[in-house]
Amino acid sequence: MGEMKEATEEDNKMLAAQLREPMGRVGVEVGKVMNQTNESMINETVKSLRIQMNDVILEIGHGNGKHVTSIIDTSPNLLYFGLDISELMHREAKFFCYESGLSECTEFVLYNGLIIPFPKEKFKKIFTVNTLYFWEKPVLFLNEIHRVLAPGGKLSIAFVSKNTMADLAFTKYGFYKYNEEDFHALIQQSEFNEYSLTAYSEEIEGKLGDELVNREYFIAELTK
Ligand SMILES: C[S@@+](CC[C@H](N)C(=O)[O-])C[C@H]1O[C@@H](n2cnc3c(N)ncnc32)[C@H](O)[C@@H]1O
Repeated sequence: MGEMKEATEEDNKMLAAQLREPMGRVGVEVGKVMNQTNESMINETVKSLRIQMNDVILEIGHGNGKHVTSIIDTSPNLLYFGLDISELMHREAKFFCYESGLSECTEFVLYNGLIIPFPKEKFKKIFTVNTLYFWEKPVLFLNEIHRVLAPGGKLSIAFVSKNTMADLAFTKYGFYKYNEEDFHALIQQSEFNEYSLTAYSEEIEGKLGDELVNREYFIAELTK
């Protein structure tokens, strides 16, 4: 077995930038690794939404979108909308869904990460996995989500804990980290009121493939 080289500062910076906004050939690979590594986190988050027939769903930061087929399979007559800031991820997810015969029930929109380009109260279910760290104006952005969520609708936000993040060198570069208190403070400043936070723990392969990392993550469930 070949020995793994330790990641340099440059490697970590590049990885952080790619996780924030995958681009180019490396971005395609990063998109694949993210989708595989985060599979159970994504599945748990989707489960928390309790998707029902006819739901109109928004995902923020879908990455390469390989999980969208399993969402569409959960209930009849769903509409899925995906928003991302990465042109590459937008293109990949759209193409994957087109090839999978899902063009009729999916729509992908590229946007600026701040203003959600949809009318108020459009969505019954909204979710986002591993994007909270990149929100530049988190209170304003949460309020944007609140605006497009239907009354009685549900929002699930999944994020890796600040504790786990502290052990991952690449998160030094441009990641806003949250623990329970940070998250609570954020919600308190927003239009959302009630929420529950559930902690999960799992063993995953490190992003540079050289280690097993035990990671703790949270799924926050909010209602409007
Ligand atoms: C770390 S990846 C996570 C992808 C997928 N959700 C997962 O957990 O595997 C972050 C994704 O969100 C996108 N992204 C970053 N900031 C965003 C924002 N403010 N709004 C929407 N998407 C964003 C990135 O382009 C990328 O596709």
